[in-house]
Amino acid sequence: MRAEDWDRRYAERPQWSAEPNGLVAELLAGLPPGAAADLAAGEGRHALWLAAEGWRVTAVDFADAGLSRGRQRPGAERVDWVTADVTGWTAAPGSLDLVLVAYLHLPEPETTALLTRAVGWLRAGGRLLVLGHDVANLTEGVGGPQEPGILHSVARLGPIARMLDVDRLEQVRRDTPDGPAIDTLLWGRRPG
Ligand SMILES: C[S@@+](CC[C@H](N)C(=O)[O-])C[C@H]1O[C@@H](n2cnc3c(N)ncnc32)[C@H](O)[C@@H]1O
Repeated sequence: MRAEDWDRRYAERPQWSAEPNGLVAELLAGLPPGAAADLAAGEGRHALWLAAEGWRVTAVDFADAGLSRGRQRPGAERVDWVTADVTGWTAAPGSLDLVLVAYLHLPEPETTALLTRAVGWLRAGGRLLVLGHDVANLTEGVGGPQEPGILHSVARLGPIARMLDVDRLEQVRRDTPDGPAIDTLLWGRRPG
C-alpha cells in the first residue's frame, strides 16, 4: 500500500489499540533505555511506550495521518516524529540501541535491504526486533495482509538473522478477538 492509502485508512478510524503489542512490551521491558528507531511506527503505540520507559525514540512512517494521531497523545513531545518512507530513511551507522519493526510488510528486495541497513545502524550489542504476520497466517491464522509475497517467515528473515546473535527466530501465536494469528518474530543483537 502507498502512503496515501495508509493515510486514508488512518483517516477512517484508529487502526490499533493505544497499547503496545504484548510481545514487544514483554521483550523490551526492563532493557536499559537508549536510542531507538521505530520503523513504520503508525499511530506510535510502541514509540510512545518506549519513550515512557525512558528511550529516546525516532518514530518513522510515511503516513502522516497515523503519526498525527500519535503526536496528539500524552508524552508525544518525548518522541521525534518523522514523516518519511522507511526505505529511504537512514540513521548514522552504529548509533542506535534498538530498531523496532512491527507489522511492516514490504515485498522483496525492500524488506531484506531495509533490515540489512537497520542492522548497520545498531551499535555492538544493539537490538533488532522484527515482528509481523507470518505467511502461515494465510491458512492457519486470522487477519493481516493476504499477499504471500509481503509476509514474513523464518526462512525469509534468515539472511538478517545470520548477521545477528539471535535470541529468537520463530513463529509466535497471538490471540485476537477473531481467533489465533500467527506472527514471525526475529529478536537479536548486533555482534561485536
Ligand atoms: C500495520 S501498520 C503498523 C504500525 C505500527 N508499527 C504498529 O505496530 O502499531 C503498518 C505501517 O507501515 C507504514 N508503512 C508501510 N510502508 C511504509 C514505508 N515504505 N515507509 C514508511 N512507512 C510505511 C504504514 O503507513 C503503516 O503505518
